[in-house]
Amino acid sequence: MIQNYEKAKQILTQYHQEHLLSFYDELDTMQKQQLVNQICDIDFDQIFDLYEASKIDEVIPPSFIEPLSYKVKAQLTDDEIAYYEAIGMDAILHSKCAMVMMAGGQGTRLGYKGPKGTFELDIVPKKSLFEIACDRLKDFQEKFHVTIPWYIMTSVYNDTATRSFFEEKNFFGYPRDSVFFFKQSQLPLIDIYGNLILEEIYKVKEVSNGNGDVFTSMRQGGILDDMKMKKIEWIFFAGVDNVLLKIIDPLLLGLTIRHHRVIGSKTLLKKNAEDKDWIFARRNGKPSIINSCHLTDEMKIAKNKDGNYLYREINMLAHLFHISALDKITQVSLPYHRAFKKNTFVNEEGMKQVPESPNTFKFETFIFDAFSLFDDLELLRVEEEEEYAPIKDFNGAHNPELAKELYEKKYHLK
Ligand code: UTP
Repeated sequence: MIQNYEKAKQILTQYHQEHLLSFYDELDTMQKQQLVNQICDIDFDQIFDLYEASKIDEVIPPSFIEPLSYKVKAQLTDDEIAYYEAIGMDAILHSKCAMVMMAGGQGTRLGYKGPKGTFELDIVPKKSLFEIACDRLKDFQEKFHVTIPWYIMTSVYNDTATRSFFEEKNFFGYPRDSVFFFKQSQLPLIDIYGNLILEEIYKVKEVSNGNGDVFTSMRQGGILDDMKMKKIEWIFFAGVDNVLLKIIDPLLLGLTIRHHRVIGSKTLLKKNAEDKDWIFARRNGKPSIINSCHLTDEMKIAKNKDGNYLYREINMLAHLFHISALDKITQVSLPYHRAFKKNTFVNEEGMKQVPESPNTFKFETFIFDAFSLFDDLELLRVEEEEEYAPIKDFNGAHNPELAKELYEKKYHLK
């Protein structure tokens, strides 16, 4: 006897999603119950509200946009760098810092089977993205005898595989009691006809809901409490795929502390005015990252009195938050954005189909939307060759071959 079958049917009729039960008669009892339970748990109102809201293109009038000030690392003197780094190092040496690595993404562009962090860079010997990140944390152990707690956000999809990988690799030699995993939430996808899709004939496809979910997931997973217990004050946040990432950066930390801010972020210079990257700016007076399409042509090339561009700082997903900022952020809900992505689905014949191009809308929150809860943030522009070589896809600008080349160059492996 399948519990709640009638309820599930009623929900699907209400939202015109009856196709999700198309293969119900072919399922065994366990699969039937699994599917019915999942349907009853999905918040259809939320997903369709997000879908409807995302159809409206956002307009930000240029008069609502102002520049955000930033420091350029290459323009700081050696003495300035030493001064700020000493402040940052003091906090690091007093065990006040932790690292949160966001590794819950789907990695749809790379299309690699398995968690993206387990993808191996083709250096000698081969190293996974997780191990490359771990090497940087180990530098602090070796040079300064500090073990930085490493918190890793996984997804429902890759949590087990990620944990097993760490076990298999013996945590790359990092103390296992300093590595913590927590899972983020997920949401259904919507196809171009406005329908949810099936991943299996007994399962609705749900995927991770963006790196902005990190805050809620940290609270729910007890991570914030754990950090407080450890008296951690500063938390570096980054993605899993940048092989040049300077994970714990005393300079950004020192600048942020010295300037009495609770958030810091590293930026890169957007090379061409017409590139599509989103840029750092004030929006309605608050720090934000906005789509460059909202800038006028004059704004795109405007410079300050020092000759630095006003609106050319782009996000490299290397952020710093004070623990008090995290407390504040977890009180609110971040807005959702819509992304169009390639996702395998079960077709009308009940067969799995791999699309050739993007076919589904995914709803995600972004970590940077938390910036606007604060009046200011510390921005530090760094050099791309030094700190940014992410792996996003095999054929695009951020491919594994290039990442390998830049990694070997930085660490003098060739
Ligand atoms: P991206 O936005 O590049 O996404 O994530 P992705 O999942 O790696 O790849 P695509 O877009 O599907 O091809 C930047 C970082 O944020 C993490 C990713 O794991 C990556 O480290 N992320 C992204 C999450 O942790 N959760 C998410 O829901 C999305």
